[in-house]
Amino acid sequence: MLRKILKWTGIVLGSLIVLLLTGYLFIASNIANRTDKTYSFAAESLAIPTDTATINRGEHLAVIKGCTDCHGANLGGKIMIDDPALGRLVSTNLTRGRGGVPADYSTTDWLRALRHGVGRDGKPLLFMPSHETTLLSRQDMAAIIAYCQQVPGVDNELPENDLGPVVNVMTYLDKMPLLSVEKIDHNRPMVAQIDSTEGIAQGKYLAVSCSGCHRPTFKGGDPVAPGFPPVPDLTLTGNPGKWTKDQFIATLRTGKTPSGHQINNDNMPWKMTAQYTDKELASLYQFFHSLN
Ligand code: HEC
Ligand code: HEC
Repeated sequence: MLRKILKWTGIVLGSLIVLLLTGYLFIASNIANRTDKTYSFAAESLAIPTDTATINRGEHLAVIKGCTDCHGANLGGKIMIDDPALGRLVSTNLTRGRGGVPADYSTTDWLRALRHGVGRDGKPLLFMPSHETTLLSRQDMAAIIAYCQQVPGVDNELPENDLGPVVNVMTYLDKMPLLSVEKIDHNRPMVAQIDSTEGIAQGKYLAVSCSGCHRPTFKGGDPVAPGFPPVPDLTLTGNPGKWTKDQFIATLRTGKTPSGHQINNDNMPWKMTAQYTDKELASLYQFFHSLN
């Protein structure tokens, strides 16, 4: 009897393991195919001004859009994550130093990356939020490119990306923005310029940078990855809906909420939101307060 039970337990467990392995192999090969796909988009061009005001605007944008968070303050790139479950995710050295973008990396190449989410070879850029940068206005796009093109070269040679099982599975379940190329409406033209007066329109434009975690509805939801806290609701139905404008601004400047909770910058990039101007934060506040 016991032998029989043991035998059947063994068969059931064995079959489960085979099933799980087959499932994982299927997912891994699906993601490998999608990351290796070659895309082709019509080459675009854009006039890039080089005046100081534009460069300064580009520098501000590089900070508030998180380019410096992921690519490093000097844009020299870095290993963002390296662990057995997630794998190794590496941001590009965007400068012309050793290990950086090629000397002839042109405005067309910048646009292909920022508008379409693919590299020069047409292969998807992994984990680069091009589904957000594609929504930049033409004027802001030009300013960011202008700034990036003139930063001093940084010598920093980096290893390749190497996706781990958790990234494969989460991407398969559409729980991680690994392949922004798949999320972009590639025929959408850039809007020329955004109304930069304080108000809901500017807030909505800026809030694109919050939508990846706080969700497109800004109602929050499950943690963005295992081990992170749940993402809060930013609208009138959430805590910030009860805050004054000054409390909202103070929270995004210091990471400390009115109830005294200190937010960890690894969970919520408040060191990035701290760099927004008062006007930009006030616009975000107005926008979130317009959402029920
Ligand atoms: C969430 C992190 C993250 C943010 C924010 C981010 N990037 Fe990236 N970016 C990456 C990663 C990772 C790669 C490398 C993708 C790859 O190698 O497949 C990348 C690649 C790129 C490339 C492609 C270079 C090439 O090989 O052709 C450009 C250009 C770029 N980023 C510019 C920017 C700019 C400008 C910003 C700000 C507007 C920005 N990135 C914001 C993570 C990020
Ligand atoms: C990388 C993901 C991520 C991004 C991007 C992000 N947030 Fe958050 N945010 C979080 C998480 C997670 C928390 C909860 C942190 C905690 O519980 O400690 C949070 C908390 C907050 C809070 C506090 C809410 C509360 O109820 O206490 C505010 C306000 C906030 N975020 C605003 C923003 C704004 C505005 C942006 C865009 C400019 C933004 N966040 C971008 C992940 C993110």
